[in-house]
Amino acid sequence: MSATAVDGRQMSDTHEGFGIVSRTFHWGMALLFVWQFTSAILHVFAEDTPVAAFFWGTHYSVGFTLFVLVLLRGLWGLANVNNRPPHAGARFERLAATAGQVVLYALMVVIPALMIYRAVASGRGFRVYGLQLVPPSETPAPGSEFAVYSNAHVLLAWTFLAFIAIHAALALYHAFGRRDATLDRMTKGYSERPLNPADAPRY
Ligand code: HEM
Repeated sequence: MSATAVDGRQMSDTHEGFGIVSRTFHWGMALLFVWQFTSAILHVFAEDTPVAAFFWGTHYSVGFTLFVLVLLRGLWGLANVNNRPPHAGARFERLAATAGQVVLYALMVVIPALMIYRAVASGRGFRVYGLQLVPPSETPAPGSEFAVYSNAHVLLAWTFLAFIAIHAALALYHAFGRRDATLDRMTKGYSERPLNPADAPRY
C-alpha cells in the first residue's frame, strides 16, 4: 500500500486527489445534468404528457442553476490550478484529457448562455424559480432572428451529451481497465492505486 498524505477530507484539491469542494461541484452538477437531459429527452419523445410538462417546467431554472454553478466551478478550478492531480498516461493522452476538459467546460458555459441571451435580447424576459430576473420588454423583437441561438443550443446540447458519454466511458476504463488512480481521485479524493500502473515498480 502506498503512503498517501491525504484521506479525502481535504477541502481544496491536492496532487493526490480532488477536495470536497471540487467533488461536490462534479457530482452535484452531474446529477443536475441528468435532470436537465431528462427534461430534454421527455420534451422530444413524450411531448404532451404530464411528466414531460413537469420536467420541462424546470428546464430554464435548472439550466440557469447549472450556468451559475459552472462559473463558480471554473473560479474554484482556477484557484486550485496548481494543486490539481495530474492526468494519467502518455504525453498525448494527457494533452487529450486537458483538451477534453476545456471542451466540456466551454460547452457547459455556452449552452445555457445562448438561451439566457436569447431570452433577454428577444424581449421575452427571463424568469427562473418563479422570479422574474429580467422583465419582458414593452415591444418584444419579432423573434425569428433569434432562432440561430436555439438551433445552436439544441445542437451543442446533444453534442455535449455525446461528450459526457465518452467522458464517463473513459473514467470507467481507467477504473476497471487500467485500474489506475483516476476515478478514485474524483470519488474518494485520494487513491492507493498508482497513477500509471504499467510504470509502477513490481516487488
Ligand atoms: C447546461 C444547461 C442546459 C442543457 C444541458 C440543455 C439541454 C437542452 C437540450 C438537449 C435541448 C434539446 C431538446 C430538443 O431537441 O428539442 C434543449 C432545448 C431547449 N432549451 Fe435547453 N439546456 C440547458 C439550459 C437551458 C436554459 C438556461 C434555457 C433557457 C434560458 C434553455 C431553454 C431551452 C429551450 C427553449 C429549448 C427548446 C429549443 C427549441 O426547440 O427550439 N435551456 N435544451
